[in-house]
Amino acid sequence: MRNRPKITVVGSGSVGATVAQYAALKELGDIVLTDIVEGVPQGKALDMQESAPLEGFDSRIIGTNDYDDTEGSDVIVITAGIGRKPGMSRDDLVDTNVKVIRQVVKEVAARSPEAHLVLVTNPSDVMAQIAYRESGFPAQRIIGLGGVLDSARFRTFIALELGVSFEDVTAFVLGGHGDDMVPLARYSYVSGIPIDKLMDQAAIDRIVQRARQGGAEIVNYLKTGSAYYAPGAAIVQMIESIIKDKRRILPCSAYVTGQYGISDLFLGVPVMLGRNGVEKVVEIELTAAERDALHKSAEGVQRVLSKL
Ligand code: 2OP
Repeated sequence: MRNRPKITVVGSGSVGATVAQYAALKELGDIVLTDIVEGVPQGKALDMQESAPLEGFDSRIIGTNDYDDTEGSDVIVITAGIGRKPGMSRDDLVDTNVKVIRQVVKEVAARSPEAHLVLVTNPSDVMAQIAYRESGFPAQRIIGLGGVLDSARFRTFIALELGVSFEDVTAFVLGGHGDDMVPLARYSYVSGIPIDKLMDQAAIDRIVQRARQGGAEIVNYLKTGSAYYAPGAAIVQMIESIIKDKRRILPCSAYVTGQYGISDLFLGVPVMLGRNGVEKVVEIELTAAERDALHKSAEGVQRVLSKL
């Protein structure tokens, strides 16, 4: 009898492998790492498993090319597909990745009808919508990566600017996980102190811009791929909130049904994440400018979707 949550990670590239590793270190459950490439998920999973005696975790990690091994998963993280190269936007990936996601979702949804799906493959808001259509799952059990990662970058830059502890900084980034994301400086604090009491507007503007370009900054360094440590940690924070029913309020791409004046779209909004997935979409008060920026970001996601 299985008594640990089962987490499947589809795609054993850098993001997928990092998710598996962080999830194992936190003992969130047993992990299945799957890929179409033969040998890579098996090799990475075994290598990670062999770190268990050293790191002191008891999660089982297996690597496989067979979707049957994913059966009965509680959470399925989908990272399969191609990533960005320098000069590309996340939306440039859509034609290739949409085919991958349709196929993957069909395979995993049939074997794990009760699972939560976490879409990481970019453009992630669009892929969440595709997963919603293909799986037939309730929207509550589908989320996309975006705000947790983008706000971690925003928090990092605030902490670096002020020379304060990273963990004392909270921040929010809403909207699609793309160039029009909406970092909300007004909802960003250091131990409860609004950041505009600690730095001037020029510094805030500079940090907002760097957060927006945070993914591209890494791509430009790596050249052959995109970020994976911070994305991996962001995904694990999201799945931990679901598996442990923590009901954390996290910015995720979730299905909105009129909140913020937007309907029938997956978009980065604050959600309460618990055992049922998106327990609720939280509506915070926005200024007219913030609301306009959120609507512009939503239009960008909608534009990509309407071409599919
Ligand atoms: C990022 O680095 C992977 O889109 C992701 O922002």
